[in-house]
Amino acid sequence: MQTIVIYKSKYGSTKAYAEKIAEALGCQAVDAKSIKAKELESYDTIIYGGGLYAEIIGGVSLITKNFDMLSGKKLAVFTTGLTPTDCREYYDGMVVSKNFKPHMLEKVRIFNFPGKMIINELSAVHRAAIKTLKKIMSSKENPTEMEALLIKLCDADGDFTDFDAINELIDYVAE
Ligand SMILES: Cc1cc2nc3c(=O)[nH]c(=O)nc-3n(C[C@H](O)[C@H](O)[C@H](O)COP(=O)(O)O)c2cc1C
Repeated sequence: MQTIVIYKSKYGSTKAYAEKIAEALGCQAVDAKSIKAKELESYDTIIYGGGLYAEIIGGVSLITKNFDMLSGKKLAVFTTGLTPTDCREYYDGMVVSKNFKPHMLEKVRIFNFPGKMIINELSAVHRAAIKTLKKIMSSKENPTEMEALLIKLCDADGDFTDFDAINELIDYVAE
């Protein structure tokens, strides 16, 4: 059984999870930059991880654009992000609809892990994006629950990584 973990990570949070998962499964964790879709053909189980940026799972098109070629394999995708993972409206609604086509959901299992955001480590562009988002959301007179949560998340500054969260994914791969 050939298994691979692939990740795209800007600030290291997704990479850290990918390495833990690979260690637990006894396989390699590979940066998405250094793998071509064609190379995935030789694996039976593919685990892809990406950080969430404006609801998009970084680099997940490696999986979704090659879905037909990969659909006979065991597929898992994990996200890292700041939105609390019990906010299922966000993950099962917005994140799923922005990243996957409905037919893909029968073939891929999706997991959501808590990520990290250290404001001082962000690029100038990302820092500005967070500031702008907060300003726009805060200017709304009657923010929805989701908008209120977003405003709060713009002030998040810390590492919320929880490696215990990977256990469910490990169990799924072992099934
Ligand atoms: C510009 C920007 C946009 C982000 N958008 C989201 C988002 O839509 N949802 C979310 O849960 N987290 C969001 N985050 C938080 C990141 O997903 C989180 O920091 C993640 O752990 C980053 O992964 P990485 O360290 O592997 O790049 C955002 C962070 C930045 C800087």
